[in-house]
Amino acid sequence: MKENSEASRRGFIKKLATTAAAVTAGSSLLAADKHSFHYLKQKYNQYGPNDQVNIALIGAGGMGTQDAIVALQVPGVKLVAVCDLYDGRLNEAKTRWGADIYTTKIYKEILNRKDIDAVIIATPDHWHQQISVDAMHAGKHVYCEKPMVHSVAEGPAVIKAQKETGKIFQVGSQGVSSLGNEKAHELLKSGAIGELNYAEGFWARRAPVEVWQYPIPEDASAQTVDWETYVSNTQKRPFDSKRFFRWRNYTDYGTGMAGDLFVHLFSSLHFITGSMGPNKIYASGGLRYWNDGREVPDVLLGTFDYGKTVAHPAFNLSLRCNFVDGTSGTTYLKLVGSEGSMDVTWDSVTLKRNKVIASDDPFYIEKMRKAGQSDSGRKHILPPEEITFNAEKGYLGGPYDHMNNFITAIRTNGKVAEDAIFGYRAAAPALLCNDSYYKNTPMFWDPEKMKMAK
Ligand SMILES: NC(=O)c1ccc[n+]([C@@H]2O[C@H](COP(=O)([O-])OP(=O)(O)OC[C@H]3O[C@@H](n4cnc5c(N)ncnc54)[C@H](O)[C@@H]3O)[C@@H](O)[C@H]2O)c1
Repeated sequence: MKENSEASRRGFIKKLATTAAAVTAGSSLLAADKHSFHYLKQKYNQYGPNDQVNIALIGAGGMGTQDAIVALQVPGVKLVAVCDLYDGRLNEAKTRWGADIYTTKIYKEILNRKDIDAVIIATPDHWHQQISVDAMHAGKHVYCEKPMVHSVAEGPAVIKAQKETGKIFQVGSQGVSSLGNEKAHELLKSGAIGELNYAEGFWARRAPVEVWQYPIPEDASAQTVDWETYVSNTQKRPFDSKRFFRWRNYTDYGTGMAGDLFVHLFSSLHFITGSMGPNKIYASGGLRYWNDGREVPDVLLGTFDYGKTVAHPAFNLSLRCNFVDGTSGTTYLKLVGSEGSMDVTWDSVTLKRNKVIASDDPFYIEKMRKAGQSDSGRKHILPPEEITFNAEKGYLGGPYDHMNNFITAIRTNGKVAEDAIFGYRAAAPALLCNDSYYKNTPMFWDPEKMKMAK
């Protein structure tokens, strides 16, 4: 394996050297690396007239609605039913998709319908496992939003249901199907950044609606919301509109910053590196500003140790999220190796290679001067420093590719990018990050066996 990666690294360097030579020879190919783009392209399968896929949406809030809109862009997909616990969402669904759409507050009614092939599950996290398992046993293919489960203990049941039923099951971290992630995977494999040793990602947010203080509808009440069902699989409490419409802030329903955001980075990182996950997880953070009754921190840092495997060398990951950040903007994912780094998004990769230049270390310069070897002042030819690979204009994006990947797998009985095992391996370190924060201790995980290690 080492030899293979060494060979491909040499191949990449050779390619890069050829390109650099072309630049010095006056070719326009990379004449201005920073200004020229390497376009990423995507190909899609055609579908036949008998390939219509009927879908239903369970959880028709912000993301569920987006998922359904994207699914309907895939040729041959029809939305036939929508389930939600709040009247307002069901009314919106009829307004958006027509009065013919069947609506209900009882998800089992959707599962009992014979004309539905697949369901999108976009409820709050505490319902993902149960609805996924019930749906697969009812013969439905499932697209379940991330994180796949609400706690580490819930994962094996979903994997078991997928194995037993043979249904197509995809978790909704769209990045893994994107051109950007695909390119990053290819570049890492070819040795573009040398040996991976570190990765990092962060989110910075500030606006109330971005940090989960969503508006609460004026008509929110126990009459318009099926609260009994909402809390039926967790602690019973009297109706509380904040706990329903701002569910991310409460641990009974949401999974905090780690389950909501870090999980995307685990999915992408695992796809790019071929990793199964970290074996040590440590978190710290605190509630610094948003004292609005939330039970989750608004600043969270996580560090994750990845052991050496056949797929990758040992490396460290640092993730952070700040909901009181007024300045630093938001970044996605960076992978750092011995010879360069990559900034990865869903539709671009910026590859930076370390340049070879004379040292500016004053001690070194003084030492060289004393030895009579001061810099002649002549400038050097530099190797390429930065290349950006951008998606071709008109690219439909990671969300489309991910949904198309799911629908294509249904039609061809094929494979998805993010099945239950992949989804669990991405969710577990995120959920353990929360456990580490609340217990104030590192968590040890066996990513291969998908079990706690201590
Ligand atoms: N992949 C992504 O980029 C992404 C982005 C945002 C959200 N999400 C995920 O999507 C899910 C939904 O998030 P959201 O932002 O759309 O939240 P939301 O509050 O806007 O929507 C959730 C909806 O689920 C309904 N609901 C609650 N319990 C239900 C049940 N038992 N049966 C049927 N409906 C139920 C609610 O009434 C609400 O309309 C979460 O798991 C979240 O992590 C993913």
